[in-house]
Amino acid sequence: MQTEFAKKLGLDVSIFAFTHCRDVVVAVSKAGGIGVLGAVGYSPAQLKEELDWIDEHIGDHIYGVDTAIPQKYEGMEETSADKLVEMIQSAIPEEHRKFAQGLLTDHHVPEWPEGDDEVTLSFSLVQAQLLVDEALTRPKCRMIVNALGTPPPEIVEQVHASGRLIGALAGRLKHGTYHKEAGLDFIVCQGSEGGGHAGEVTSMVLWPQMVKLVAPLPVLAAGGIASGQQIMAAMSMGVEGVWLGSQWLNSTEAHAEPAQRESYMNATSEDTIRSRSFTGKTARMLKNEWTEAWDDPNNPDPLPMPLQGYLTFDATRRTHRYAGAGETQKVAFNPVGQVVGQINEIESCRDIMMRLMTEYSESYDYIQSLMPE
Ligand SMILES: Cc1cc2nc3c(=O)[nH]c(=O)nc-3n(C[C@H](O)[C@H](O)[C@H](O)COP(=O)(O)O)c2cc1C
Repeated sequence: MQTEFAKKLGLDVSIFAFTHCRDVVVAVSKAGGIGVLGAVGYSPAQLKEELDWIDEHIGDHIYGVDTAIPQKYEGMEETSADKLVEMIQSAIPEEHRKFAQGLLTDHHVPEWPEGDDEVTLSFSLVQAQLLVDEALTRPKCRMIVNALGTPPPEIVEQVHASGRLIGALAGRLKHGTYHKEAGLDFIVCQGSEGGGHAGEVTSMVLWPQMVKLVAPLPVLAAGGIASGQQIMAAMSMGVEGVWLGSQWLNSTEAHAEPAQRESYMNATSEDTIRSRSFTGKTARMLKNEWTEAWDDPNNPDPLPMPLQGYLTFDATRRTHRYAGAGETQKVAFNPVGQVVGQINEIESCRDIMMRLMTEYSESYDYIQSLMPE
């Protein structure tokens, strides 16, 4: 898996690990791939702390940072991060606040301790800009990736001027066209089965069309990959590497409470749903009473991004910290892709990387064995 794109970055294998955990970033980069830290849940000060830790532990390896600047969102015209948050908070209807809190109370999810009220979500340009500025102070951070839209020209210019690569996720073909026109260096093409924000078209159908559409721009395949056989399928369609998210959630290095790990472990591929109930945009996660309640036409509709994310911020942090309390798992935010059904073991990131490579090579042998003598 030594593609041109991997060589450009100096990687042994073209495996990209999306994760919110710094330990996973370090472990995957050290195992020959590259870890990309999802920064959307961090304040600039918290991101600084995470990147300090990564820089200290990653040795001579490199990593990336992922932001989430949506193409469209409420409050796009706002140029001050503080004013944007004020606007968002005042735009959330009381009915929605009561409904969300009611779901948590009904399921006995413990309250968040008082005095720790900072909301650290950055689904906007003004907030993400601060994260990009921090990331670009780090020589070992070699790429910025953006979710939910084409990064604005000023960010593209800034990243390029710093000598780094910039890419973005695309769940639809037209997003690939916009990314290419904006001068991005690569595209992460995510099919519908992937965890987190996902469109409607499946990977098998989307990847080859994207490769053709944006050529010669490198495409990384995302959505539905957690084995070497799936990597082989993706590579056969002309992509330059693979981008995995769900695979790392139950790795030894991931930060997760045992009850959340158990929910992932017990889930089948039929237990996920694309829902707007946590962020306001359609994201794939484990189905539960929370997602069902927000789907019910008798209840309030999810708000647009970033309002719904601010509304549910408390639910997200409480259901993660108190994952095992009361009936928390019935209303917990557990984003994951359909591959959750094939992940039945807790493995270290190094073991995962080795397994992926072994399976990849086994599937290569299998394909070879089908060739006529
Ligand atoms: C828990 C979780 C959180 C995610 N959050 C983000 C995010 O903040 N930014 C982003 O670019 N992608 C995010 N994604 C999507 C991943 O980057 C990746 O494209 C996706 O997980 C690939 O599909 P897979 O889950 O089948 O591997 C997330 C995925 C998961 C599972």
